[in-house]
Amino acid sequence: MLNPKVRELLNDQINKEFYSAYLYLDFSNYYERLGLDGFANWYRVQAQEERDHAMLFYDYLQNNDELVELGAIGKPDKVFTDNMGPLKAALEHEQYVTALINAIYAEAYEARDFRTMEFLNWFVKEQGEEETNARDLITKMELFGNDPKSLYMLNSELLARVYTAPSLVL
Ligand code: FEO
Repeated sequence: MLNPKVRELLNDQINKEFYSAYLYLDFSNYYERLGLDGFANWYRVQAQEERDHAMLFYDYLQNNDELVELGAIGKPDKVFTDNMGPLKAALEHEQYVTALINAIYAEAYEARDFRTMEFLNWFVKEQGEEETNARDLITKMELFGNDPKSLYMLNSELLARVYTAPSLVL
């Protein structure tokens, strides 16, 4: 049995990760409409990763013989007026998710729940990577986004991103 508060936060995180997938799918949709298929691809892959994150929490709870309770997923409601908007919103969102992961970690630490801490270690590292990627993309857009040829190159770079499933033992 997991500590009730730890269990509750892990369960909530399933919803947050599915919301992240939904949010990034919305970003992908935004770029698709602009004809920026590379940016659309980048966020489509990102959405797939977020779905994986949700399922890792789902599986972890089930592996610990805990009941999963699925909640409603919120509607992404951000309105963007330029190409940079989703990139900045993504960084902000990842910083928020990092804070959520840290809060679960703190609760697991408090409960001396070493297994959950070990499970969360992967997410702590992943969040570092996610924030770096989001920040790098903003920098690239600042550098190249205003020149059509450079934007075309950047879009082509992002088109090359392929999905790979996470390798994580629960
Ligand atoms: Fe699952 Fe991008 O955090």
